Amino acid sequence: MEPGMIPIPAMFNRIAESRMANQGVNSGRRRFLTASTAVVGGVGAIFAAVPFIKSWNPSARAQVAGAPVEVDISKVEPGQRLTVKWRGKPVWLVHRTEEQLAALGKHDARLKDAASEQDQQPAYARNPQRSVKPEMLVLVGICTHLGCVPRYVPELEPQPFDSEWQGGFFCPCHNSRFDLAGRVFDGSPAPINLEVPAYRYVDDRNIVIGVGPEGAA
Ligand code: FES
Repeated sequence: MEPGMIPIPAMFNRIAESRMANQGVNSGRRRFLTASTAVVGGVGAIFAAVPFIKSWNPSARAQVAGAPVEVDISKVEPGQRLTVKWRGKPVWLVHRTEEQLAALGKHDARLKDAASEQDQQPAYARNPQRSVKPEMLVLVGICTHLGCVPRYVPELEPQPFDSEWQGGFFCPCHNSRFDLAGRVFDGSPAPINLEVPAYRYVDDRNIVIGVGPEGAA
C-alpha cells in the first residue's frame, strides 16, 4: 500500500467513530433541549399554580407617609386574597365566595366575639360579614396575640388544627384560628378579632384603605 493511504477496514472504523461522536453530540443536545423545556415548563407551572395576584405595594412615598392607599380589586377572583401594604402592615382583601359567606353564620357559638362588640372595626363594618360589601373582606393581617402573620386557609373542610374548619386564617405561631370575617375562635390565645381598617369604595373597582366612607364615623 502506498504511503498516506488508509486501509479500507480502518477507513470504515473511522467513519463509524465519527458517526457515533455526532450521535453523542446530538443526543447530548437533545438532552439539553429536553432539560431546558422541562425547566421552562416547570417555571410556567409555578406561575400557573400561584395566583397571578400575590401582592401589590403602594409607592414608597405613600408608605412612608402612612397615607391612604388605593387598590384595584377588579381582578381579585372569588376565593382569592390580595395582600397590600399600608402603614407598614399587611392588609388583606379577600373576595369571599357565596359558599364562604354562607359558612360564616354556622359557627357563632364557637367564637369569642361573634357580634364584633369589641372595638376592632369601624362602625360601618360592625355586621355579620364585618365589611362594607359582603363579598369583599378587608383586614389587617396581623395576629392579635403576638403579632405573627396568619396563613390564609380558604378551604371549607377539616384541617389538622380544626376538625370543623369552614375557611379562615390560621396562625401557626401559637395556633390561633380566625374565621373568614377575621373573628377569633374560642381556644385561641389571640384575645380579640382581627382588625378591620378604615376603608371606602371609590367605585366598584377601587378601594381606598385608610379613610372611611364620606360622612362615616
Ligand atoms: S402570634 Fe398568632 S397565635 Fe401567637
